[in-house]
Amino acid sequence: MNTLNIKLKPLTTEDLDAVLALDRACFGGLWNLETYQKELDSPNCELLGLFSALYPGKLLAMGCFWSILEEAHVTILAVNPQYQHQGLGQALLYFLLKAACDRGLERATLEVRVSNSAAISLYQKFGFKTAGKRPGYYQDNGEDALILWLSGIHQPQFQTTLAQWYNMICDRLSSFQE
Ligand SMILES: CC(C)(COP(=O)(O)OP(=O)(O)OC[C@H]1O[C@@H](n2cnc3c(N)ncnc32)[C@H](O)[C@@H]1OP(=O)(O)O)[C@@H](O)C(=O)NCCC(=O)NCCS
Repeated sequence: MNTLNIKLKPLTTEDLDAVLALDRACFGGLWNLETYQKELDSPNCELLGLFSALYPGKLLAMGCFWSILEEAHVTILAVNPQYQHQGLGQALLYFLLKAACDRGLERATLEVRVSNSAAISLYQKFGFKTAGKRPGYYQDNGEDALILWLSGIHQPQFQTTLAQWYNMICDRLSSFQE
């Protein structure tokens, strides 16, 4: 069985400095300390981090979803710019979808900037489909958001898909360079 050379951990209060630094690097300061603390305190929020195996405190990537009724609303997916294009983004998305599936959720959804072709391509690779657009959704520049959905994550066959993805992310991360 494949194994991973990075560590997945639920984020905790101790990680908040690293979380804020990663948020600034990826989003220019989307959420502040209080917002992340609220997320950590909420039972409906899953906030996961990918950490270096060599340097355990080093946060490489983080992702978050809210569990709302039967849906996982992905709110954050961020890979440290220094470590992008090495498979961490897809590993994180895999772990978020697995966590959503483990919670018994039925589908996943998110908004993404129409210009964010890297993220859109990642979500499409994992089967997300465009369901519509929110015009002017982003306040900083008035950019439109695409609304993406992935359904059927509660179906038995999704377990097979998860197993295939797990092998794919392990293969990709086997050459991960810190
Ligand atoms: C989007 C993001 C999470 C991708 O992370 P990453 O670690 O670089 O992505 P990966 O190396 O795991 O790539 C997985 C897939 O994503 C897509 N992808 C990633 N970077 C891409 C790029 N520059 N152009 C096109 N597709 C890209 C590809 O489909 C890729 O699969 P492939 O390697 O088989 O072609 C990362 O760029 C990021 O953190 N961006 C800033 C924050 C952000 O925009 N988050 C999304 C908000 S909705």
